[in-house]
Amino acid sequence: MTWTGNAFTDLAATAELYRDGTRLAVRTSALHQAKTRGRPVAEVIADLALNRLATPSKATVADVGCGRGTSSRILIERLQPRALALVDASMAMLSDARGRVEPAIQAGACTAVAYLRADFHALPFPDASCDLVVAAFCLYHAPDPRPAITELGRTLASGGTAILVTKSADSYRALDDLLAGTGLDPGAAQRPSLYTSAHSGNLADLVAPIIPVTHIEHEQHEFVFAGLDHVAAYLATNPKYHLPAELSGRPEAIAAALHRHTRERPMRALSTITYVVATRSRRT
Ligand SMILES: C[S@@+](CC[C@H](N)C(=O)[O-])C[C@H]1O[C@@H](n2cnc3c(N)ncnc32)[C@H](O)[C@@H]1O
Repeated sequence: MTWTGNAFTDLAATAELYRDGTRLAVRTSALHQAKTRGRPVAEVIADLALNRLATPSKATVADVGCGRGTSSRILIERLQPRALALVDASMAMLSDARGRVEPAIQAGACTAVAYLRADFHALPFPDASCDLVVAAFCLYHAPDPRPAITELGRTLASGGTAILVTKSADSYRALDDLLAGTGLDPGAAQRPSLYTSAHSGNLADLVAPIIPVTHIEHEQHEFVFAGLDHVAAYLATNPKYHLPAELSGRPEAIAAALHRHTRERPMRALSTITYVVATRSRRT
């Protein structure tokens, strides 16, 4: 399906994107196979959390916009928190996440796990009830992330920490250039980023007036796609592109069209991952 506006901030488009887990699984797998540089994001989140929580095993943690539960599983395994809530607007994502974290729960790493379908603008938690709130790669789905950040802040206990993660607006720019250069999507390089509302360049500024920012970290990740078939697998999952109807969402057709328009070669793309850590002041 082609979206004329920003599919990441359009409510109906976002619901469609996460209606089932297939698109995200294919996208994640294509990127994972291409990745040549950059630490695993979930491990970095766990490291940041472990450095800030006084007693991780007593912590109440929420993974907001948990998606397929990649971060949730690592948080359970590494923090072994007292309680973890996985929150997402999509039932399909929560179901995938459950499958991913259940083995860690069976292994006894966490006693209280909840799967909650909720919007990050209205979290089902009392004020000041969470020691750690994680929101990774989800705030760019809000046209204006500030109300959602305010809601995250509301749930933080005194001294509690929020870890917010996003990527740069210019992520995977080389692939925009590829589609524009081959003429398959002439406007690809001019179209605004999917991450416009919350990206590496503005996330800390959005958070700072709401929750005091204590740490910012940027890391460039590098991806080398093996060839045009590999790139096509990723491109088919990306709602930014306006491809001809016969190519849209069809990796084999996109690959065939790319092969007709350009030479076979590995393709390199970059994305900067940004971690913003914010801590609620201690109430005296
Ligand atoms: C790219 S996935 C990120 C998944 C995960 N946090 C990660 O790091 O891999 C974005 C997730 O945000 C969720 N989401 C989007 N808008 C939301 C909203 N308003 N409230 C709660 N979750 C939302 C989507 O359903 C999706 O599962």
